[in-house]
Amino acid sequence: MKLAETFYYLRDKLRNAGVVACDLEAEWTIENVLGISTLERIQRPDRAVTIDEMQKIELILERRLSGEPLAYILGEKEFFGLKFKVSRDVLIPRPETELLVEQAFEWAKDHFVKGSSPELLELGVGSGCISVTLLHLIPELKATALDISPGALKIASENARRYDVADRLRLIEANAQFASRVLGGQVFDLVLANPPYVDLTDPHVEDSVWRFEPEGAVFSPGEKGMDIPAQWVNELPNILKPNRSAAGFEFGYNQAGEMTSLFQNNGLFDKIEIIKDYADHERHIWGTTKWMP
Ligand SMILES: C[S@@+](CC[C@H](N)C(=O)[O-])C[C@H]1O[C@@H](n2cnc3c(N)ncnc32)[C@H](O)[C@@H]1O
Repeated sequence: MKLAETFYYLRDKLRNAGVVACDLEAEWTIENVLGISTLERIQRPDRAVTIDEMQKIELILERRLSGEPLAYILGEKEFFGLKFKVSRDVLIPRPETELLVEQAFEWAKDHFVKGSSPELLELGVGSGCISVTLLHLIPELKATALDISPGALKIASENARRYDVADRLRLIEANAQFASRVLGGQVFDLVLANPPYVDLTDPHVEDSVWRFEPEGAVFSPGEKGMDIPAQWVNELPNILKPNRSAAGFEFGYNQAGEMTSLFQNNGLFDKIEIIKDYADHERHIWGTTKWMP
């Protein structure tokens, strides 16, 4: 088969099975198996797909049609234009999390002058998509990132090496609830987190999340899944600089009220904003402290 025919074959199989992003998934699969860029795929629709390549595509299709997310099958996921290695030890980076990175990037650009070295702390680093992207975008930035999962830290470390930022990223295996103790009281300019925040009884959770994603990365105990986000926000006074600093957290579709109260109650912030995601859902909270010397 030619490349273009293979694309239509794959896309139609995915579409018939109800895969919403069938076009994109067909493109990513072909690029991954053939080891070609998007440009090459577009420029060479007549390129022959070998039997070996076609067998690999069929195997991917079989796993995909059984419900496994494509990112785990291919072992990578695009985030903010970068390709992150992923395994079943990490949450698949989500497009909405890109907005937290964008917010942090804009804040760092506006508030840090060239020559200064802002320090980021990320709680729950997972694949490293947040910290590694920011380190890639901001050459002056240094980051420390915690995760309770050794498997996730291994993937984050590989992604840091992939983007040549490993020398500016300190990875620590620890419970973020006790971040300050682990970090010996060090305070940071910027603290970011996408904590596990999904309520274990949430009926909206997709079947593939239950079946394939790490439970410890997704779910949080407590009413509305607020236990872990609350523990991490409550640690902020011990890990965030009291002035000229900011903190940003991702949260669930029904947690904006609880997150706002938690951010208000610790008395740290001069300004608190809620940021909406692409689907117009309240998704991130951003707090900034006073800009004093
Ligand atoms: C929702 S995932 C976010 C991963 C990544 N930052 C992202 O945005 O894709 C949450 C991460 O927190 C980690 N985690 C869960 N409980 C933790 C804890 N108590 N302390 C530190 N990390 C924890 C999980 O292993 C997981 O990697």
